[in-house]
Amino acid sequence: MNSRMQSAGNLVGSTGWKARFWDGAVEGTVAALGRIEVGEVLTLTAVRLLVDGVELPGAVEASAWQPWEVSLDTPQVAVRRSTTFEDQHVQWFEIQSAAAGSITVWIEFETRSPLKIAIDDGVVYWESELGRVVAVACNPAATRVVTGCEAADVRRLWDAGVDFNGWAQVGELRDSHGVVACGLPAGRSGVLALAVGRTRQEALEKLTAAQGSPQTVLEHARGTWEQFFADNVPACPRAGYEELWREAWYVLRANRMDYANPPLSHPFTSPSKFNYPHQWLWDSAFHAIVWRWLKSSDWARMELSNLLEHPLEHGRLCHEIHFSPWVCELNYQHGHQPFAPTSQPPVMAIAVELVHQRDKNDQWLRQTLPKLVAYLQWWHIARDPDHDDLAGWGCGWESGLDNSPRWDHVAQAGKLWFPAPVEATELNALLVQEWRAVARLAGHLGQTKIQNLAESWAGRIKSAMIERLWDTADEFFYCRDHREKPIRMKTVGGLLGLLALDPGDAQVSGLLRHLTDEREFWTPYPIPSVARDEPSFTTGQMWRGPTWINTNWLLIRSLERLKQGTLAVELARRTLAMVQSEGSAKLWEWYDPITGRALGNKDYSWSALVIDLLMDQSGHAI
Ligand code: GLC
Repeated sequence: MNSRMQSAGNLVGSTGWKARFWDGAVEGTVAALGRIEVGEVLTLTAVRLLVDGVELPGAVEASAWQPWEVSLDTPQVAVRRSTTFEDQHVQWFEIQSAAAGSITVWIEFETRSPLKIAIDDGVVYWESELGRVVAVACNPAATRVVTGCEAADVRRLWDAGVDFNGWAQVGELRDSHGVVACGLPAGRSGVLALAVGRTRQEALEKLTAAQGSPQTVLEHARGTWEQFFADNVPACPRAGYEELWREAWYVLRANRMDYANPPLSHPFTSPSKFNYPHQWLWDSAFHAIVWRWLKSSDWARMELSNLLEHPLEHGRLCHEIHFSPWVCELNYQHGHQPFAPTSQPPVMAIAVELVHQRDKNDQWLRQTLPKLVAYLQWWHIARDPDHDDLAGWGCGWESGLDNSPRWDHVAQAGKLWFPAPVEATELNALLVQEWRAVARLAGHLGQTKIQNLAESWAGRIKSAMIERLWDTADEFFYCRDHREKPIRMKTVGGLLGLLALDPGDAQVSGLLRHLTDEREFWTPYPIPSVARDEPSFTTGQMWRGPTWINTNWLLIRSLERLKQGTLAVELARRTLAMVQSEGSAKLWEWYDPITGRALGNKDYSWSALVIDLLMDQSGHAI
């Protein structure tokens, strides 16, 4: 494409593209052209405007890792983008043209599953194998439309004046892409809209509605959001945190997805719909813990349904359920099926117990309990080959602490699996808590055999941890690597050993000394994933130093159980301060433990655990 500057463009960094219906700020004056999800099926990666074939400044390629946001406002063309975001999946660009030449709107997108592309009566249809159709059209009718898979092909057809290229098949790769070019008559303003439906008919109806009366569609969408807050979200429980409260619910709600296709048959919350658009195991457990605070607990139970309905070999719950087998194959080389071959940190029983405490739904509990038992036993069957009662991570991704420096010497280049499971403190401490939760739940249902089994596992694992992972000299828990050698590195994983301990245990005070030491874990925005005085500590790389909300949440709740209330409250206070440290609430993936800066993926669902911290700072010890 020719990117010669046609006019003095004005690129403005902006966050205005996101439809924040709850504060009414949905319509910016200038559009933002950004990485845009369309019905979970595809992502727009670039929108360019051309006047008489020459590109205006302002179109920017999206980088997969960092969604970009820019506004485009030139003397010739202003674009205002609106979107109804989640439920309705309609979005449109209002193009105000003062240009004498003809305008070409050029859209590039990536798909997450193969698409068929068709043009019928001036409307472009992208049809996904996942049962979604995206309809795209311009109003007034575009002078011509060309669509296809390769930018160069589309450009060639466009330049040759061809206005129809029939059916096309987008390739079979994850980063498949497509292009559509629409022409607007000279000097005309128009609305370019995209709408998603399960059928062509549904998509077309939404499209027509958006073009006919965008305002009505917007009002409807805004109404849906307002209704969600009014009907289901409890009032912010603490004065001064209203903005954070709204933002956190917004993020969680906006990441909710509904593919309605097996095995993702039930709606669920993606960790971040921009880069993590399917379902993860421990993420969903954390999401359910937050969803339980809605006035109805339906969404909390539903959050776990896809996972619980698909136990795999020996009861394994799946790490990632992909909506498209083809994405799974790309990530894991595990055959053309939607289930990842791994599991993830066990938080499921903790989540089930907390949800059950809210809604007392014994029928659901009766159905769920056997699955929890089978799942916890799977760890002992599949991940404890030396039968010493300590389970291990099969690979870095399974640990959820993907790139922890503890795995550096274990992981083998190009291989998914560790040579043997790594007996990690956090895994075994979580298993202790999970079995304790199962014991209480079984006790509640009067299932004594299961209760006894669960209590016995909790005791055995705790003893094995203290015997084999506790370092008396350093007063810290260290993992054992694939050769059973201690990995002498202080990370949040070792601190999470607190989960397994009981008040009065000798190890508690030692761990707390590390936790509160400013040279180690007590940074301005604690708790860093790696202690500050470790050589591998860095502030900018996921699990190699940054602070995460989920591990803070686990630590806060266990500090409460260990009767360390003052410390728990202070850690919660600093966690809340961290997500607001840049002036406004930012629920991102991870944070700089020194400056509090939000990093990683934006609008990340489990960071909404701050809701749980606000809801109750003292009474929900785990
Ligand atoms: C990252 C995290 C992992 C999480 C996943 C989805 O890979 O390291 O723990 O489950 O994102 O949010």
